[in-house]
Amino acid sequence: MNTKTQVGIIGAGPAGLLLSHLLHLEGIDSVVLETRSRKYVEERVRAGVLEQGTVDLLCETGLGDRLRREGLVHRGIELRFDGRGHRIALSDLTGGRAIWIYGQKQVVKDLNKARLAAGATIHFEVNDVRLSGIDATSPVINYRKDDQEHILTCDFIAGCDGFHGVSRDSIPSGILRTYQHDYPFGWLGILAAVAPSTEELIYASHDRGFALHSLRSPEISRLYIQVDPDEDINEWPDDRIWQELSIRLATRDGWTLADGPILEKGITSLRSFVVEPMQYGRLFLAGDAAHIVPATGAKGLNLAVHDVRILAESLTAWFRTGATELLEQYSTRCLRRVWRVQDFSSFMSLMLHRFPDGDGFRSRLQRAQLEYVCSSEAAARSLAENYVGLPHV
Ligand code: FAD
Ligand code: PHB
Repeated sequence: MNTKTQVGIIGAGPAGLLLSHLLHLEGIDSVVLETRSRKYVEERVRAGVLEQGTVDLLCETGLGDRLRREGLVHRGIELRFDGRGHRIALSDLTGGRAIWIYGQKQVVKDLNKARLAAGATIHFEVNDVRLSGIDATSPVINYRKDDQEHILTCDFIAGCDGFHGVSRDSIPSGILRTYQHDYPFGWLGILAAVAPSTEELIYASHDRGFALHSLRSPEISRLYIQVDPDEDINEWPDDRIWQELSIRLATRDGWTLADGPILEKGITSLRSFVVEPMQYGRLFLAGDAAHIVPATGAKGLNLAVHDVRILAESLTAWFRTGATELLEQYSTRCLRRVWRVQDFSSFMSLMLHRFPDGDGFRSRLQRAQLEYVCSSEAAARSLAENYVGLPHV
């Protein structure tokens, strides 16, 4: 089967689906190819924090109905150490900006619904996706669906297929420069059917390791604890997780953590990863396909949104007028934000986690940093403006 489209999009995560939506609003046709089922991509538990700029973009492009109804606006976060909480007043420190709690799976559901209602072509459960001709004017994607071979000819290809996708590896060797840093810790995350024990997110630094109390709704909590990156989840029965969380989150004034049934649990590693440039010929990488940030800054999804905003704008200019300038600048424009966010996410990660090789020196520096951001308005403002997200350029 031979078909054609203007933009072939690989991956129906937030990056691929939002790109398809933004292009559609500009009258540009796309086809999205996804290896997983619709149900799988809509149920995957991942990000929960949306920056103000992400929310503004979703609302401006007609995706804000449920987000405005069900999303929770947060105007502060708590840093907790030495058994005491310290509020970082995000909105007061940033001229009224805020973050929103709205699960990634809700964003993906809203996007799928909007795209399919507009008659979009999204092929789920495809396999054996291959890219060719990316340095020519009509790149091609080959894939299989229902045991049939398909050929999709495109003007451009967007590689939105996440860290483990095929797009990045389709770029000839010697073109990309890779930067990678693996942190010596992972996160064990749970989703639990219990009302959050806090109104705002708590980032806790404890001698036994980092812990984070987040949430999804007034009835659902999302919590994380630092573990070894190669930790076996089977070593963590539910009771042990709750016990560890309540130790690491404990305060001197007797705050208590409510527990409840665990709906989902899993371990992820923390890593920083960037490829430069994020483009080659007619292939453009966006989101996790091009970069990964450690989750402590709550930025991965938000960066993916910024990339596809820039990509949609650049492709629109080309389809309208043939102008190549914005396409040529795509990578440079995205990478400026990627490295800012990489620095912020690394700062948060290094400040809050316990290092296995700790000789005491690093933990003293961490304490000095925590005390500084909790006592200096200048330091708190810097954290706040990064956390809510710097304005999109
Ligand atoms: P993905 O969501 O990975 O989507 C890529 C898609 O491509 C997938 O659906 C995949 O199935 C598909 N695919 C892969 N290979 C192929 C192929 N060969 N052909 C076709 N399709 C393919 N970010 C935040 O902003 N805030 C947070 O609070 C936050 N918390 C997080 C917590 C955890 C535990 C984790 C793991 C991540 C968190 N993130 C957070 C990061 C965020 O989830 C990712 O950055 C985001 O999913 C990136 O979106 P994406 O569309 O680029 O990639
Ligand atoms: C989440 O709610 O999943 C979450 C919140 C903050 C983070 C990372 C993840 O830094």
